[in-house]
Amino acid sequence: MDVFSIEGPVRLSGEVEVKGAKNASLPIMAGAILAGGRSVLQGVPRLLDISVFSELLEQLGCKVERSDDGRLHIDSETVDNPVGEYEIVRRMRASICILGPLLGRCGKAKVSMPGGCAIGDRPVDIHLRGLRELGARIRLEGGYIVAEAPNGLAGAEIFLGGPFGSTVLGTANVLMAATLAKGTTVIESAACEPEIGDLANYLNKMGAKITGIGSPRLVIEGVKRLEPVEYEVIADRIEAGTFMSAAAMTAGELKLKRCRLGDMMAVVDKLRSIGVQVEASDGGCVVAREGPLNTADITTQPYPGFPTDLQAQFMALLSLAEGNSVVIEKVFPDRFMHVAELNRMAARLRKEGAVVIVAGVKRLIAAPVMASDLRASAALVLAALAAEGTTTVQRVYHIDRGYERIEERLNPVGAKITRLKD
Ligand code: EPU
Repeated sequence: MDVFSIEGPVRLSGEVEVKGAKNASLPIMAGAILAGGRSVLQGVPRLLDISVFSELLEQLGCKVERSDDGRLHIDSETVDNPVGEYEIVRRMRASICILGPLLGRCGKAKVSMPGGCAIGDRPVDIHLRGLRELGARIRLEGGYIVAEAPNGLAGAEIFLGGPFGSTVLGTANVLMAATLAKGTTVIESAACEPEIGDLANYLNKMGAKITGIGSPRLVIEGVKRLEPVEYEVIADRIEAGTFMSAAAMTAGELKLKRCRLGDMMAVVDKLRSIGVQVEASDGGCVVAREGPLNTADITTQPYPGFPTDLQAQFMALLSLAEGNSVVIEKVFPDRFMHVAELNRMAARLRKEGAVVIVAGVKRLIAAPVMASDLRASAALVLAALAAEGTTTVQRVYHIDRGYERIEERLNPVGAKITRLKD
């Protein structure tokens, strides 16, 4: 397992390109199952999660390969084994989003029930409820979800809200299944995340008939078949937000290429109130901080609210603000594995249920820390850039799941990150 050794404090300055969105790429790769032919995807980042998902698609019978120009080719003509094995699903929960497209394409699917995860309980009851309303018969057997629709799926009116609002991958699953169902489906309380919008645009390019994209009410008129297409995934707003926090934490200035500011209003608004300048600039943006950091109160919410996937990174940032900030997690109330690790670096964070009080400190101090999940690890890397001394971050594979070679991209703009073998 690789380890990062990170020297701080540094000031980041220069230009970084934002890669394609992991959380758009994964459901779009699953969507390729629906096409029954060779789809070509541009901008899919080179990440551990993408490799694991490619392995999963290959187990189903797809051929997946990357060409020299970086495009990902998925040939789903030969899908003949609609089974998502436990061995892969346990490594990556997003595997669940093969369920909808397999049902739509093959009329049956067997996918391991995902287990617990470092960011808390992550049930899939709403996914199953939605698919049942489309007419699927679903049962649990030996830890697997077994779903069948021998006579095909039928359009329905489906409310997909849950105790924490909408569900991103639940919406993806039901949306993909509904594209090939007979008749019209209405999904109410659909997730509005840009990644779901990207998936819907991809499906429409394949011949699906989806309207209401970007709103909580999606209307899908079922079609008989979908055709494989070439498609480019959107830029990763969470990676962009992570780099923005890095610029802010190090009192630096970063120009982000390929950043969709329009998808990041809640984040940009928060950065500005914290005292960080964010300006649009040729399809990207410039983020800079000169003065002190102000405190802020942050509540995570489904889109267009502040994303839970940036909560940890902003907590690291606020730990250097003058005064007390409050962070409330309303999407994954247990997503706080980074709190104890940041405290090891001299942050002053106090957790009360799903709320963390952040008492600002003048400086963070390097320490050995342990990455526990993807975004928590990103927060530790940010803290290490600003901390005095050399921080070692163990279990770097968590970072590799969602950030493509982060050290090779941040070192040219001033970071001092060395990847070591454990
Ligand atoms: N929920 C239920 N029942 C369900 C589904 C979800 O109660 O059937 C609850 C969850 O427990 C959670 C809330 O609803 O409290 C929202 O979960 P959601 O289903 O939206 O999460 P997800 O689709 O499993 C995706 C991203 C996550 C991101 C969340 C929220 C992908 C591959 N994953 O997960 O990304 O945090 O949406 O925005 O798109 C990450 O990239 O680090 C990551 C964890």
